[in-house]
Amino acid sequence: MSYTTALHGGATDDILKSLHKQFTIDDQTLFKITTTFLSEISEGLSNYGRAMAMIPTFVKGVPDGSETGTFLALDLGGTNLRVCEVTLQGDQTFSLRQQKYKVSETLKTGEVTTLFDYLADSVDAFLTESSTPSKEPSSLIGSDPYAAVNQDTPYLPLALTFSFPVEQSALDSGVLLTWTKGFSAKNAVGKDVVKLLQDAFDRKHIHVKCVALVNDTVGALLSRAYTSGGCILGAIFGTGTNGAYVEEVSKITKLGDSAAAAAGGEMIVNTEWGAFNNSRSALPTTPYDNKVDRESINPRFQAFEKFISGMYLGEIARNVILSLIDAAPKPILFGGRSSDQLNKQWGLDTALLSEIEEAWEGLGQFSLAPGSVEVTEVEKLRRIQGVLAKRLELSPPDISLADADIVRQACTLIASRAARLSATAVAAILVHTGRARLWDQGEQSSAGLKDEGKRIGVGVDGSLVEFYPNFQTKLRASLRMLIGPEVESRVDIGMAKDGSGVGAALCALVAQRQSQAARTHGAYAYDHEETTIQVRTEVSYLSSLSS
Ligand code: BGC
Repeated sequence: MSYTTALHGGATDDILKSLHKQFTIDDQTLFKITTTFLSEISEGLSNYGRAMAMIPTFVKGVPDGSETGTFLALDLGGTNLRVCEVTLQGDQTFSLRQQKYKVSETLKTGEVTTLFDYLADSVDAFLTESSTPSKEPSSLIGSDPYAAVNQDTPYLPLALTFSFPVEQSALDSGVLLTWTKGFSAKNAVGKDVVKLLQDAFDRKHIHVKCVALVNDTVGALLSRAYTSGGCILGAIFGTGTNGAYVEEVSKITKLGDSAAAAAGGEMIVNTEWGAFNNSRSALPTTPYDNKVDRESINPRFQAFEKFISGMYLGEIARNVILSLIDAAPKPILFGGRSSDQLNKQWGLDTALLSEIEEAWEGLGQFSLAPGSVEVTEVEKLRRIQGVLAKRLELSPPDISLADADIVRQACTLIASRAARLSATAVAAILVHTGRARLWDQGEQSSAGLKDEGKRIGVGVDGSLVEFYPNFQTKLRASLRMLIGPEVESRVDIGMAKDGSGVGAALCALVAQRQSQAARTHGAYAYDHEETTIQVRTEVSYLSSLSS
């Protein structure tokens, strides 16, 4: 019997077994979820208005690393707002200068114009900073592309990375479908976000023009393609979760007989997989998930995201911990004591789960110097006791070694479920695009698959995939189970560092070429449909994936 097993007995043991049962998704269920994923993908490609929106982005190819230029990008994600200046060097490398700004709860939930005024002010502050003489020579003012633009147009072009579901009608316009990740700014849903931003710039006489709109997943895909030479899927596993992939336009049947459909070829589709299975017909839900959902600002929406992403894992863990503190007939944790931190909604950050797992695994700040003696389980649990006392403001004598072990097991269960579910999303895209087959009927051959024998590029970003101990290893293990070892071994999962900035820069480049072409052809005024056609023509510089 291991030391940790010996710590628990009777009622605790039963409760731990029950937690394991509730949070462990068996292989058969994982296959079923992937199959449901495949049908929701098809549904979304053929119909507008589906929860998993499968949004055509009007980005018609991926870069190959040879692109050049300096661009301004504004990135509104889940946690921060960033303004950056990105220089694409044309040799698969880039340099980036950025400034981060905090987005307060008041801004997230207030009037939308106040939020967009703040975005505009942040860009203004960044530009003012950039033009001070103390800044590096690469400052915006005087740098080549902006100077060129300034001679004949009185504005700086900027691309907006907006990490929320937006139904795009062109590269530079799209209406917000719904808020996610704790945002609920009023009077925004149904509005064109590019216009909201442009109006804010104009109100404040800031000479910046928003020329392109991009989701962070599209940014991840484009930036990974730029730095690695090829990528078919961009995915975010961070505060929220989502994926964008390269699709054949003929499969996006909801485009009907539009110009975009007639143009054919390939287009990046933003899946908005965070809203997969909102009906929860396939996702096995625990009472803890139900509570998180019920108390969220968008109950019954973003079901998949609520099982997976950094915004919610801490809150699920908090609910589990509280239920163990309150257990009857006897408390299971902390002698029945809680803390203000634990009692508060969102009081437990996913970063804490990560820290607990690092303490157990000896990773991050708990890594051992080479050659040191292995740490015993008791010492590992003592580290966890320390983390819990510090972060949850619990009194150290109230945290037993058994408590530390229970919390550790709960964190692992919650995060492992998230990693396994994440694999279903990746597997579904690979199967849908003809690059893999599901192994639910037993071993499958790879013969006849798209990209047979070739590397399959996947660009990822987000705090979970970057920092959470073993997240990627667990995701890969489930992916291997779902699609078999041969295809899985060819899947190159790589970080799309600064994807939101670099991806936005690449979209701004598309927009710039499009507007140059419009000027060359004397067509200054264009409506959205024409814009789309311009985009199609002008992105042909991007290498086609299939070539
Ligand atoms: C949003 C997506 C975004 C994802 C990752 C989700 O909540 O709906 O648009 O890509 O978070 O940031």
